Amino acid sequence: MKTVTADVVVDLQFGDCGKGKVVHHLAKNGNYTHVVRYNGGSNAGHTIYHEGKKYVTHLVPAGVFHGIMSVIGGGCVVDADKLLHEIELLDEAGFRASDLVRVSKNAHVTTKEHVAEETGETKIGTTRTGNGPAYRDKHARVGIRAEDVSSLSKFLIDPYECFWDNRHELGSHVLMEGAQGFGLDVDWGDYPFVSSSNCTVAAAVNAGVPPQNIAEVIGVAKPYVTYVGSKAFAGDHPDLTEIQRVGQEFGATTGRPRQCNWLHLPELVKAANINGVTKLVMNKLDVLEDVGAYRAFIKDGGEVQEFVDLPSFTKFVENHLYESCEQLEEVVWSSSPEKI
Ligand code: IMP
Ligand code: MG
Repeated sequence: MKTVTADVVVDLQFGDCGKGKVVHHLAKNGNYTHVVRYNGGSNAGHTIYHEGKKYVTHLVPAGVFHGIMSVIGGGCVVDADKLLHEIELLDEAGFRASDLVRVSKNAHVTTKEHVAEETGETKIGTTRTGNGPAYRDKHARVGIRAEDVSSLSKFLIDPYECFWDNRHELGSHVLMEGAQGFGLDVDWGDYPFVSSSNCTVAAAVNAGVPPQNIAEVIGVAKPYVTYVGSKAFAGDHPDLTEIQRVGQEFGATTGRPRQCNWLHLPELVKAANINGVTKLVMNKLDVLEDVGAYRAFIKDGGEVQEFVDLPSFTKFVENHLYESCEQLEEVVWSSSPEKI
């Protein structure tokens, strides 16, 4: 009998925690038959270093860098012109994106009208990529699906046929790539300061993998938090301004400065538990180390706790996570933009 198994990469904060890097790393080493993006649209920006060069993708999953079929799932919204442009750039860079990128026929499209609705300042500070209007129309049943857009026809697949395809004798092993993060999830985030899709492992299941066949859920977070949007979020401390500068915390899609604050442990625990995270990658530890500031909110509504040095910070955080997160097996601290 054929099976479809999957590992899922999910952001536990507000996006921008380095999913692109983690997916790029896993895709290289994991024997995956497909990499699937399961939510969001061109509001996302995944920064990837491949053989020393920097690439930013908005729609194309990171599988293309390793020659793996890369599918945009049915839960995504696709701006066709932007996707075609991204494919062209990746082709020119030598990645055979036209052969590798596929779009689920049930994905919805973001139209020019959707984008036009978001010109000027939006109330919650969106990326102005038409994401909310596209999902609104999808759910109001007046949207347009990818299968009805002629410029996408040569990329279309049926996700069921694609994953349960007879050519994969042993079945498929899929790497699921999320966009945005738990704090921006339309249900779990701080509504209305959220994106318009589900950003949890639930959305990965919806892309076409049986829940029992998810092996690893790889959570991605940072040892501080950042958020882009119009609610007040930033902490008030000069070291946080340093973290923003050293960590280059400016949006990959919009260039906006990301508001920075200290790590919020109770929220990280919640996101890890709800997603069933088995492995957690804590990126950008090098940024904290460069700035030399080690602080975290360790209780809801509590004061910021200060730690004397890096080892006492990481040890406390790790112990707390292992004690509080049921499925968690491993915490990996990463200090490089290019590798784990
Ligand atoms: P939208 O997804 O463009 O509608 O924006 C809704 C909220 O999510 C805004 O606060 C955006 O800044 C934020 N957002 C959307 N996509 C991303 C992302 O990929 N990284 C970080 N923030 C994002
Ligand atoms: Mg991003």
